[in-house]
Amino acid sequence: MAVPLFDTSAPLAPLRAELRGAIDRVLESERYILGPEVSAFEQEFAAYCGAAHGVGVANGTEAITIALRAMGVGPGDEVVVPSFTFYASAEAIPPTGARPVFCDIDPDTFCVTADCVRAALTPRTKAVIAVHLFGNVAPVAEIEALGVPVLEDSAQAAGSTTSGGRPGAIGRAATFSFFPSKNLGCFGDGGMITTSDERIAERARTLRFHGSRDKITYEQVGYNSRLDELQAAILRAQLPHLDEWAEGRRRAGRHYEQAGLGELVGLPTPVQGASPAWHLYVVSHPEVESLESALAAADIGHKPYYRTPVHRQAAMREWGTGVELPATEHAARTHLAIPMSPVLSSGQAAEVVAAARGRASG
Ligand SMILES: Cc1ncc(COP(=O)(O)O)c(C=O)c1O
Repeated sequence: MAVPLFDTSAPLAPLRAELRGAIDRVLESERYILGPEVSAFEQEFAAYCGAAHGVGVANGTEAITIALRAMGVGPGDEVVVPSFTFYASAEAIPPTGARPVFCDIDPDTFCVTADCVRAALTPRTKAVIAVHLFGNVAPVAEIEALGVPVLEDSAQAAGSTTSGGRPGAIGRAATFSFFPSKNLGCFGDGGMITTSDERIAERARTLRFHGSRDKITYEQVGYNSRLDELQAAILRAQLPHLDEWAEGRRRAGRHYEQAGLGELVGLPTPVQGASPAWHLYVVSHPEVESLESALAAADIGHKPYYRTPVHRQAAMREWGTGVELPATEHAARTHLAIPMSPVLSSGQAAEVVAAARGRASG
């Protein structure tokens, strides 16, 4: 039985009528940009995270650039960022005028640690981007204890929780992507900045709209970067289901454990105090190519997401040359995402484990 890498349609099937209702509401309102749906979703999503403010933007990449600028990052500054992440986490830094400084990760959690960040700090460090990779939650409080503000890149961690609060409300500010395959996804591009700092929220609100408060005067060069009304309405219909989907992702992880996957490969380890809503379920194996072949032969979805870490991408040459990150290189070489979704069943998990066992015995 084939098992897909992810399943975005099954969780939405019971919500079709609600989603159509949300789209109709926007059509009838004839308000498409920065109207009541965006305002309501900003409030509802910020409240879900436990933050005071939400600022809807066009996508999770521009969310990072705008949030960094709203935090005061600019030319001459450095921003520490892990190299084992989706490229956009680092790509969003140079447009602010600051330099990305790459740091290593904990290969068990795939997240940055305070020690990794400490090794990359200089007097020019203005902020740290802590990526909550694969739905795990980086130890933000420990990093902020080093004396630098943290921007949480929470693109992959909607629905995750920790003993110290949810992603979106742990660091100075946080960013989200609502790309369709994310834990909370819209039907196009979308993003959000959350923060409890009134000044950061106000600056982000201005920056997303051409650096203007009133459409008449322009205080700084900003962006045209807005979440639109249709996407906000679609997200509002889904938000009440995020916790149940997050629990489905945790349950899927337990199915893998109960089927004995941990005997065959390295399992993802939650950061202490975190309860990840696994966005991607990423395992590791020293001979990962043979695991890939075994899963391919059994028609099981799998994908190595970040085989080339960001600091070794051509576009990052200016900032990545000469950087040595051993745990990042190890994770890049050995990781593999296997099927994960809110509806992954114990039977599907058993199929995946049986295919992986074939590699182990063969
Ligand atoms: C960790 C991470 N950061 C940033 C982004 C960028 O988000 P977007 O694709 O909405 O620009 C993504 C998702 O694609 C991501 O996974």
